[in-house]
Amino acid sequence: MAKRALLLPGDGIGPDVMEAVQRVIGALNAAHGLGLETQTGEIGGASIDAHGVPLSGAVLDQARASDVVLMGAVGGPKWEGVAYHLRPEQGLLDLRKGLGLYANLRPAYCFSALADASSLKREFVEGLDLIFVRELIGGVYFGTPRGIDELPDGQKRGFNTQSYTTSEIERVARTAFELARKRQGAVCSVDKANVMESGLLWRQTVTALAAGEYPDIALTHMYADNCAMQLARAPKQFDVILTDNLFGDILSDEAAMLTGSLGMLPSAALGASGSPGLYEPIHGSAPDIAGKGVANPCAAILSLAMALRLQLGRPDLADRVEGSVAAVLDAGLRTPDLHAGPGTSQTGTEGFCDAVVQAIQ
Ligand code: NAD
Ligand code: IPM
Ligand code: MN
Repeated sequence: MAKRALLLPGDGIGPDVMEAVQRVIGALNAAHGLGLETQTGEIGGASIDAHGVPLSGAVLDQARASDVVLMGAVGGPKWEGVAYHLRPEQGLLDLRKGLGLYANLRPAYCFSALADASSLKREFVEGLDLIFVRELIGGVYFGTPRGIDELPDGQKRGFNTQSYTTSEIERVARTAFELARKRQGAVCSVDKANVMESGLLWRQTVTALAAGEYPDIALTHMYADNCAMQLARAPKQFDVILTDNLFGDILSDEAAMLTGSLGMLPSAALGASGSPGLYEPIHGSAPDIAGKGVANPCAAILSLAMALRLQLGRPDLADRVEGSVAAVLDAGLRTPDLHAGPGTSQTGTEGFCDAVVQAIQ
């Protein structure tokens, strides 16, 4: 039976990069027998404008009935300043939660052509290949109570709750350990156990799980502030970084710059086996460049590659897509977010995608 993908372009540069993804799917269907059927739906601001909510029940049902979901990005100034449940970002959170996608894989891989595009010197990033396993549907993003209330003295107080249960920690830690077994066998678990109870439980739970079920894994622990520094100092020390929802969000944006641009990092959000994964760039809707046709489509295209490898049963085509992106970068093509060194030429989203599609064919 043909596999089905739900495409959710979203807002800002989301539709630009999803257009590129759709063209790559077209090329894979036409030239390589992928046979992937696509449907398109709304999420985020686009859904607010069309349906009054950032994720409709109908789109969530469509997502559940798909093999994979591919998203662009959500958010933008147009929808800021309203209640959280009516903001574009809530659509993405609802989708992750609704599909039970607790493990977010965010690989930071430095293409050799981009070693000089990083904000670090070439020697620090050449050959970089680390991956975050970020907990995605717990922690302070979802904890209650939350809100802004008024104090008797007339001040306001904003508050959120960071909380993790043993089972929430165990299931995502398992994902990290299993992944590490297929890589270098090393997991660095990142928390703030020195100041937070949720971090202490995180550390205790990860340690106990490793001792009981993954004695073959080299498990280390690091405080999140140190990890931020170590990523900028010596990122190649890491193989798998396991961390919570908030730290994973922040540290993965930092790691993106090691690879040349935020526009390079793909992701896969996975849940229980059998449920569709969500594949999306880690970047946002980039309001500053929206509508200019210059967004880097690599993160979105590489997210499709992750879907091909992890859930669509076509690792051969994942290799082909990644190889095509590498070939286009090797040939010197760059979107404006990527440092333009000697022998490079600048192009926009469409021009870059043209070259990738050609390389795929
Ligand atoms: P952002 O990731 O949208 O942009 C940060 C910077 O990186 C900007 O200068 C932008 O131009 C650049 N950038 C991002 N992606 C790029 C690409 N593919 N090519 C070239 N340059 C790129 O972060 P922000 O500005 O903090 O947030 C903007 C909006 O996006 C907010 O509404 C935020 O909530 C939302 N957001 C959504 C997601 C998501 O949908 N997964 C992720 C992050 C932020
Ligand atoms: C990301 C984004 C989201 C997050 C927002 C838009 C909800 O920053 O996917 O990295 O914080 O998870
Ligand atoms: Mn983020």
